Amino acid sequence: MLPKDTLKDRVAIITGGGTGLGRAMALEFVRLGAKVVVASRKLENLQQTVREIEKLGGRALAVPTDVREPAQVENLVAVAKERFGKIDILVNNAAGNFICRAEDLSVNGWRAVVGIVLDGTFYCSRAVGKEMIAQGTGGNILNIIATYAWTGGPGTIHSACAKAGVLAMTQTLAVEWAQYKIRVNAIAPGPVDTEGAAQALWPSPEAKKLVEQTVPLGRFGQPIEIAHAAAYLVSDYASFITGATLVIDGGQWLGHGHYLGTLERFTSERSRP
Ligand code: HXC
Ligand code: NAP
Repeated sequence: MLPKDTLKDRVAIITGGGTGLGRAMALEFVRLGAKVVVASRKLENLQQTVREIEKLGGRALAVPTDVREPAQVENLVAVAKERFGKIDILVNNAAGNFICRAEDLSVNGWRAVVGIVLDGTFYCSRAVGKEMIAQGTGGNILNIIATYAWTGGPGTIHSACAKAGVLAMTQTLAVEWAQYKIRVNAIAPGPVDTEGAAQALWPSPEAKKLVEQTVPLGRFGQPIEIAHAAAYLVSDYASFITGATLVIDGGQWLGHGHYLGTLERFTSERSRP
């Protein structure tokens, strides 16, 4: 575990910080000394995170924001700066997702997900990046993507295309903003059993079991496992890491397309000595 003052006095904006991985990252960053601004559409979820943080003696602020709206994003950055004086860290974690065949996906369905994930990540990065450049003290941007940014994601074409765009954005900004000491990295989580992901991607016990079986480590990830890595990447312990994506998936994406199952079936059909 990282030492308690690892993020001391850093100010972090976390989109989607009212639920799931966003909430776990907010709590972990605060445990490590940061002040946190959580932003998403549902104020009651954001307030719940803020209450949990304040119970721990930390400082946090909820700013209702739809990341698809550039004016709301500008407001988020202004309010964060007004309250805490600066912005050191941005985590682009907000997302939307649902399973739908490409041929059945409506234009609005496409726009809803690409708007949150790709446009929203750019609007937030641009607004916070400008602030970090003006501050002149560097900063950290962390994007939460998914491994289907590389493999493609049949059944979730909107999300896969948007996450692939965010991967390109991570690598682009890492180089473009290195001169300002702004590091830009990504995490690609495997299946982590949050309420939002479960509703969108494994809504039944049977579906959940099938997903679990795709993970070589044989289980879902825990939000805190993502939060620990996120804290590391935005901390000075990762000071020479930029443009990187850390995959945290129990080996899931490497497990595809291997021949072990075939071999086992083949050899079990033969008599062994
Ligand atoms: C087909 C759907 C749909 C579904 C919505 N739409 N759900 N189409 N199947 N299940 C269509 C609607 O019909 C509409 O199109 C359009 O999408 C917009 O829908 P709205 O409900 O008006 O949009 P909005 O309120 O903006 O909601 C956005 C959302 C919603 C993405 C649709 O699900 C949401 O807010 N989700 C946030 C939480 C979330 O999804 N978390 C999951 C993250 S997990 P029409 O044409 O009818 O107008 C994750 C894991 C990644 O990302 C990788 C795992 C490996
Ligand atoms: P989640 O709880 O559903 O998180 C999604 C968050 O995005 C919610 O807090 C939601 O809050 C926010 N959001 C959605 N639309 C928004 C908008 N227009 N503006 C601002 N905020 C918005 O799911 P999660 O599992 O924690 O996912 C977190 C991140 O991890 C996402 O980027 C997801 O793609 C990624 N991920 C998750 C998994 C997994 O298995 N869990 C795997 C790979 C990648 P509001 O509804 O209040 O707006």
